[in-house]
This record gives sequence, structure tokens and C-alpha cells, in this order.
Amino acid sequence: MVKTKIAVLVSGGGTNLQALIDAQKSGILHSGEIVLVASNKENAYALKRAQENGIKAVFAKDEEALLKIMEAEGIELVILAGFLKILSSEFISAYENRIINIHPSLIPSFCGKGAYGLHVHEMALSYGVKLTGATVHFVNEVPDGGQIIAQKAVEILEGDTPEILQRRVMERAEWVLLPQAAEMISEKIAKGKK
Ligand code: GRF
Repeated sequence: MVKTKIAVLVSGGGTNLQALIDAQKSGILHSGEIVLVASNKENAYALKRAQENGIKAVFAKDEEALLKIMEAEGIELVILAGFLKILSSEFISAYENRIINIHPSLIPSFCGKGAYGLHVHEMALSYGVKLTGATVHFVNEVPDGGQIIAQKAVEILEGDTPEILQRRVMERAEWVLLPQAAEMISEKIAKGKK
């Protein structure tokens, strides 16, 4: 089977990218291959992680530049892993049902515009929910509004701060769920082309 060509888009530290790279090494992700990591931030640490693992890493100053390089690389699946820029509807329709995102809550709670990074966990704590988690979903024009692919719940414990909760959600949900979902979607795409 020919592997699905994956681009991972990042803006920050890239721990989710690292989880994908590790999954590729361990074989959890085997139907797809990360061939490109692109960032809208020139100094994103995630770009270093890609370079250190021999993956092409680029800074793309705008969508036009991004689309160009993705086309040149033959990208078939786009994974948003902490990519802090809302994509235009032109970009989304160019890769319809081929863009997935990880969000650090159980959608439809604590999501949408303004719900990113630590804010999401602050929202969960101030609401007082006892369970939160992470969601992998397809990307459409509505922020965090596309079809849900996978979810994993994480307990909220007494004394949690947004930082402590963020770390628990990453370790127990995001870093597990994103590689699994990436494999599932990569396999579907790969099977479609044989
Ligand atoms: C993660 O919490 C992810 O769910 C969100 O942005 C954060 C990115 O972290 N979309 P990292 O760059 O993968 O470490």
C-alpha cells in the first residue's frame, strides 16, 4: 500500500508533532508518512523537532506559500497540531475532508473562537466540569465545528490549575488520540488509492 503523504501544521512547541513522529517510529502510524512540517511562526520549536527527525520543515509566511509547498509535496492529509491560525474557506475547500485538528476539550464544550491553549482549560475549571479531554475532528469553516473523528475523556482533579490540567490532557488524551486518528484517516486515504 502506498503511504498517505501527511503535512503537519504547527505554530508552537510541537509536542503533538512529537507524538506523531514517535508513533511513526513505533509503527502506530504506518499507513501515512509525515513528509512536511510547516509553520506560520519562523521560530516555532516544532520546526526544530522536524529537522532533528529528518523531516522537511518550512516557514510559510501566508496561505499562498503554504498551498504552493503542499502541492509540490503532493500532500494528501493535513494535520493541525497546535496551528494557531484560522484557515480560509478557499484553503479548506482545496483539502475537503483532508484536514484534521486536535482540540483540548470534549467538543462541543469549551471550543470555538477564542478557545485555544490554556484558555480552554481555564474555561473547563471555571465551569466546574468533572471530565474534560481531547477531540480530533475534521476542519470545516466553523472553528472546531467539523465532524468528530475521536474523543478521549480525562478526569479533572481537586486542586487542578490550568497548567496541571493542560499537561494531563496532553499526556492522557492528545498524544494518544492524535496518532491513532492520523493512522485511521491515513489508512482510509491509502486504501482508496491502493
Ligand atoms: C495543544 O493543546 C493542542 O490541542 C492545541 O494546541 C496545543 C499545541 O501544543 N490545538 P503543542 O504545540 O503540540 O505542544
